[in-house]
Amino acid sequence: MDYKGENEMGQRVALVTGGVGGIGTEIVHTLAKAGYKTGSTYASFEANKIDGWQKPLKAEGLDVQLFEADVSDFASCEKMAKAVEEKMGPVDILVNCAGITRDSTLKKMPVENWNLVIQVNLNSVFNVTRQFFPGMLDRNWGRIINIASMNGQKGMFGQSNYAATKGGMHGFTMSIAQEGARNAVTANCISPGYTATEMMLAIPEKVMEGIKKGIPMQRLAEPREIAAAVKFLASDDAAYITGVNLDVNGGMWMHH
Ligand code: CAA
Repeated sequence: MDYKGENEMGQRVALVTGGVGGIGTEIVHTLAKAGYKTGSTYASFEANKIDGWQKPLKAEGLDVQLFEADVSDFASCEKMAKAVEEKMGPVDILVNCAGITRDSTLKKMPVENWNLVIQVNLNSVFNVTRQFFPGMLDRNWGRIINIASMNGQKGMFGQSNYAATKGGMHGFTMSIAQEGARNAVTANCISPGYTATEMMLAIPEKVMEGIKKGIPMQRLAEPREIAAAVKFLASDDAAYITGVNLDVNGGMWMHH
């Protein structure tokens, strides 16, 4: 029997990695509010944020499940996936949002910062998607949504590690989009431009001023504007969209 998710078998299940971060928090909020049974992973070093993070969700009556995982570690993701499916059921919608920056010019970049960013931003996408993709294929419905970056499309001074992961994420996405298509499993990237989150605080003020001047919309993205794109790609209305890299960048980078 074809799996029809919320239409015939109850609520669809969504899982967000990096769901307690700047963009992730808004993705979790938006999906939970849209009626999905929503879960989020968090890293052990974020444990102290959890109570404060859950407060506004609870105040809105939204019940979000949390799962500790090191997304850069395959075994940890296997364990997490088991816990997720036991608690929430099979995952229909996976949003890979966990990501970090360790910016520096290549000539100053320590190998540790190259490896760390590859592990956390790119290997994580394999580690997590590998857990849930086969089940989506079996049930003939699924959504993989990977949060990439405009800087993975155009490159950025000081971000050779980060841009490599975000560009790599899109290659991965296009490949699994082809593998999933016949089973109605879509895979897409979203590439945000500069978004108002804590990640921006690492950018020197002088550099930030220059960046703002280069944004046609003359402002940063709000996290909820990224979340709105996730909500659309997760929906049945987006069933025929797969393998794309959706720009949400205020017009800062346009390409064909
Ligand atoms: N283009 C050209 N030259 C630049 C430049 C740029 N974008 N940024 C810096 N430079 C120049 C500086 O003017 C400076 O020149 P001089 O030596 O002639 O003065 C030289 O490069 C060295 O710059 P810094 O003094 O800043 O060098 P640093 O080693 O202290 O720092 C840096 C370099 C780490 C790249 C720092 O400038 C930085 O953090 N830049 C911000 C990078 C950035 O935008 N990251 C995006 C984070 S947000 C994100 O990633 C989310 C997303 O997906 C969009």
